[in-house]
Amino acid sequence: MQKIRILIVDDIKNTRESIRRILNFNSEIEVIGEAGSGSEAIRLIETLKPDIALMDISMPEMDGIRATELLSFRAPATSIIMMSFQSETEYMKKAMMAGAKEYIIKPFTSNDIISTILKVYQKDARKKEIFQVPSALSKNNNSSAKTISVFSTKGGVGKTTIAVNLAAELANSKLAKVLLIDLNLQFGDIASFLNLTPRRTLSDLAQVNSLKYDEIRFHMLTHPSGVEVLAASTRPEYAELITSEHIQKTLQEVKPNFDYIICDNVSRFDEISLTGLEMADEIWLILTMDIPAIKNTKLSLEILQSLNYLPKVKVLLNKYDKKLGLNLKDIENSLNIKISNTISNDEQQFVKALNKGTPFVNAFPRSSASEEIKKIVEKLVEKPEEKIEDLNEKTKFNSFQRLFSFGR
Ligand SMILES: Nc1ncnc2c1ncn2[C@@H]1O[C@H](COP(=O)(O)OP(=O)(O)OP(=O)(O)O)[C@@H](O)[C@H]1O
Ligand SMILES: [Mg+2]
Repeated sequence: MQKIRILIVDDIKNTRESIRRILNFNSEIEVIGEAGSGSEAIRLIETLKPDIALMDISMPEMDGIRATELLSFRAPATSIIMMSFQSETEYMKKAMMAGAKEYIIKPFTSNDIISTILKVYQKDARKKEIFQVPSALSKNNNSSAKTISVFSTKGGVGKTTIAVNLAAELANSKLAKVLLIDLNLQFGDIASFLNLTPRRTLSDLAQVNSLKYDEIRFHMLTHPSGVEVLAASTRPEYAELITSEHIQKTLQEVKPNFDYIICDNVSRFDEISLTGLEMADEIWLILTMDIPAIKNTKLSLEILQSLNYLPKVKVLLNKYDKKLGLNLKDIENSLNIKISNTISNDEQQFVKALNKGTPFVNAFPRSSASEEIKKIVEKLVEKPEEKIEDLNEKTKFNSFQRLFSFGR
């Protein structure tokens, strides 16, 4: 008879070990793995596909309830049994709402846990036959992710902020499978924007022999919003290990497994950013309302034009404020391109969200900037395939002659 395959999720090692010891006595049950956090649990459940996960509620970074919520659509074939010291009905309700099948209160006896496992397994046996899910994070069609590179050659304009919030909004409200890649390899800060501790990063991945999807998946971090993150190196010197070939191969491997891939970039054209731009379906060029940013954008547009990337470029004006002495039309005329969207200036709240390690759209969902970001996401989801002719229409660019003509 096939054994019931179990994964134990608890941030306390001793607890995991004592549960494992109890279960090892039962011949119908096999413990196939352990995870110490919600994020690790998601990664292991997607790869090992256990029949049942025993999930602790209170864990740092991502708690068991959020992990269960994400797993209910990412790995529906795995049944979750929640474990907690909390016996209040409120907790039980939350766990069940998230998709847990049973709730067991710690400390429990070996009889309690084994009978709960057997009960849930029997109840869900029929469901498992129906859900023959090939891979939890693999998509059920053959299409590949829409890739967006967020770029500018001017520092501090809000590339990372926009990349992070775009990803969070897509994952949170649209339930899209989103991967956020930090291509600011030396000083990337996506992990700190999202309050994640990178254990494995792109520089560790660069040292792996075969860049296959399972290996790449192993290097991702899952944010509670559901966004998967490939973080930049933890130290600037490690960034040198990563080549443009690594990035190209990684992007090719992950594309079939996601709906959206968002790449954040350094503020310059280099081998890595050019690889990201080349592989992108859309390039979001970010600028702010000041002359240096406008001049930089103008130059970037010319370089992007010479690379024939202009049809996939969208220009976003961040930190928009009517009182800054420049108007939208003047900026458009100077750039010879239409600005697709603006995001309002809201310095205090953006920094507050940053210091909390929470995406701005989650921290301040009702602010104007959040509403604007949501609109951008809605448009992106609504019109997944904007026609290249339409984008060409938007550009009135013709030559290098107008370079630096701004302000003359
Ligand atoms: N719409 C906005 N209103 C006010 N402040 C903003 C806005 N967008 C971003 N910021 C703030 O601007 C600062 C720089 O943002 P961010 O780090 O995203 O820029 P960047 O372009 O990625 O910078 P770098 O080039 O260093 O990577 C942050 O403090 C962020 O909170
Ligand atoms: Mg940045």
